[in-house]
Amino acid sequence: MPMSIEQNTSRLRDVTEKTIAEILKTEKVLFDEQFRYALLNGGKRLRPIVTMLCCEIAGGKSSDARYAAAAMEMLHTFTLVHDDIMDNANTRRGLATLHKKWDVGTAILSGDEILALAYRALLKTKSKKNVRLVEIFTKAFFDVCEGQAYDKDFETRTTVTSKEYLKMIELKTSALFSSSAQLGGLIANVSEKKLNALAAFGKNIGIAFQIQDDYLDCFGDEKTFGKKIGGDIAEGKRTFFLVRALEKSPRSVLLKKVAQRKISASMIPEGIKLFEEMGLKKEAEHLVEKYTQTAITALNVFPQSSSKETLIRFILQLVGRKS
Ligand code: IPE
Ligand code: IPE
Ligand code: MG
Ligand code: MG
Ligand code: MG
Repeated sequence: MPMSIEQNTSRLRDVTEKTIAEILKTEKVLFDEQFRYALLNGGKRLRPIVTMLCCEIAGGKSSDARYAAAAMEMLHTFTLVHDDIMDNANTRRGLATLHKKWDVGTAILSGDEILALAYRALLKTKSKKNVRLVEIFTKAFFDVCEGQAYDKDFETRTTVTSKEYLKMIELKTSALFSSSAQLGGLIANVSEKKLNALAAFGKNIGIAFQIQDDYLDCFGDEKTFGKKIGGDIAEGKRTFFLVRALEKSPRSVLLKKVAQRKISASMIPEGIKLFEEMGLKKEAEHLVEKYTQTAITALNVFPQSSSKETLIRFILQLVGRKS
């Protein structure tokens, strides 16, 4: 009997857990406690699952992609540890952020170590294409840095357009999904055409995912989301909502205050209500749907298979996520 989507994804989640545990056992990890805290506290493991499923839809064996998959999860975790410092975030996955539990210096260094170990994990992959794998991985790392630089810069800019916002999230979020998908394909020796299709798949799913993340920051449930609701508003982050709201009502006093970080915590619900009244909740839902469908269409070059079915259902679940 074929495996259900839950069985299929939990199988790949298990492989990810085992590979990370193996890395912990075989490497001399300086910031061992911080590594465990950042990597073993309930991440969804989306990127490694994407890597392994993309390897399978391209005709490869997911076990061959397991180190690359773990490397993607570690690169992602490194970005989260540093992102939380940049965003002044206190909570992640329902726990104190690493720099709050320890201190900023420890968070910077242990994040750096996770990144170094990610490269080492990637290089354990047995493939003739290792140089290409490292190139793709490094490009993703570069892109996240660039996207995060825009994200930071936008906080103090007077105007940010929707186009600029899209470019920013393509860099800070899509880059990791796109490279996760490409690594899986490369390990399975796909053609250039199929590799480009995987890049497009990752790019579009990443855009949908980040808009959904901005959405949950306003309309999610704190317990399941594991991050503080309204955290983006408090920090004046140029999310989908603030960017679109300012485009539609550039003279709004409340919006200007949010953008200039001049609001008190008690005004956050007012900001969220305004976004909804402006029709932006619906607009975001529509966009998430649109980019998800574009991502699915990009997979047309791959033949039907149970892995492809799983991948499609997995990403449909993922963008409808609550956590
Ligand atoms: C959070 O990513 C960062 C964004 C790109 C929005 P995830 O929601 O995949 O984080 P975890 O690893 O599951 O906590
Ligand atoms: C996600 O940005 C992108 C990266 C972490 C690189 P966010 O700042 O929205 O991510 P969360 O919401 O803190 O997870
Ligand atoms: Mg951020
Ligand atoms: Mg953040
Ligand atoms: Mg966010």
